[in-house]
Amino acid sequence: MKLSNRTAIITGGAGGIGQGIVRRFLAEGAKVAVVDIDQAQGDKLLADLEGKGEVIFIAKDISKAENAAAIVAETVARFGGLDILVNNAHASKQAPIMETTQEMWDLSFNTGTMATFHLMRAAYPELKKTGGSIINFGSGAGIKGLPNQVAYAAAKEAIRAISRTAANEWAADGIRVNVVSPVALTPGIVQWAKAFPDAYQEVVDGVPLGRLGDPETDIAPIVVFLASDDSQYLTGQTLMADGGTIKLY
Ligand SMILES: NC(=O)c1ccc[n+]([C@@H]2O[C@H](COP(=O)([O-])OP(=O)(O)OC[C@H]3O[C@@H](n4cnc5c(N)ncnc54)[C@H](O)[C@@H]3O)[C@@H](O)[C@H]2O)c1
Repeated sequence: MKLSNRTAIITGGAGGIGQGIVRRFLAEGAKVAVVDIDQAQGDKLLADLEGKGEVIFIAKDISKAENAAAIVAETVARFGGLDILVNNAHASKQAPIMETTQEMWDLSFNTGTMATFHLMRAAYPELKKTGGSIINFGSGAGIKGLPNQVAYAAAKEAIRAISRTAANEWAADGIRVNVVSPVALTPGIVQWAKAFPDAYQEVVDGVPLGRLGDPETDIAPIVVFLASDDSQYLTGQTLMADGGTIKLY
């Protein structure tokens, strides 16, 4: 098992890609703190994971800065340390630039960029002790500049910038910081597809491997790789877990 005796915080772990990561991490021997705003979904997941490993559910809104320290403290109190931080949760609403409101901007930046930033800082003292790994989430929407996604695209590219900076600043502390940019079939994508069916079809048609990824079997193994010693010489990078859609140079 690649993550034996490692403790991980996974935000947005009750749904979509996050849930796939939680399941895979447990299978690889990690102890997992699932953080999500959706209490009902979290309760359901924990019931389903009964007997499958050491896991706790922390029902907290990551867009509130003060929750970051509490999330790290609760995880360390329960498991005795922290090795891996997966900043996966992100909520956003899509609209053309001229119709994007301050509220839409705040939603995307507070749940995405700022939550990632606050949790990284809250986790830093613990990750420094363990030589930990941080995995943040980017998006092709930011890299390509997809229409109708300005608040989301900007928040995601800011996350990539924070990740590169932290990779440089914290390398001396033994902390690695990488980004995954996924394409996967999740409830979030299903919702987006209903609002923008043409854009959704364009995404599907643009995947060279011919299908949207599965959270647990396509995306989570890449996150396991970044969390494990297999990637010990990799930091500051974005891995495109997108079936070949975007090639970074
Ligand atoms: N699915 C894709 O194809 C795709 C493509 C590009 C990027 N991404 C990125 O991958 C990550 C996961 O995407 P997904 O499709 O699984 O998303 P999703 O919307 O299906 O799930 C997100 C989870 O985060 C939780 N969450 C939302 N706001 C929260 C908050 N304030 N506090 C705590 N938890 C909160 C939700 O309850 C949910 O469980 C996100 O960062 C997303 O932007 C996904």
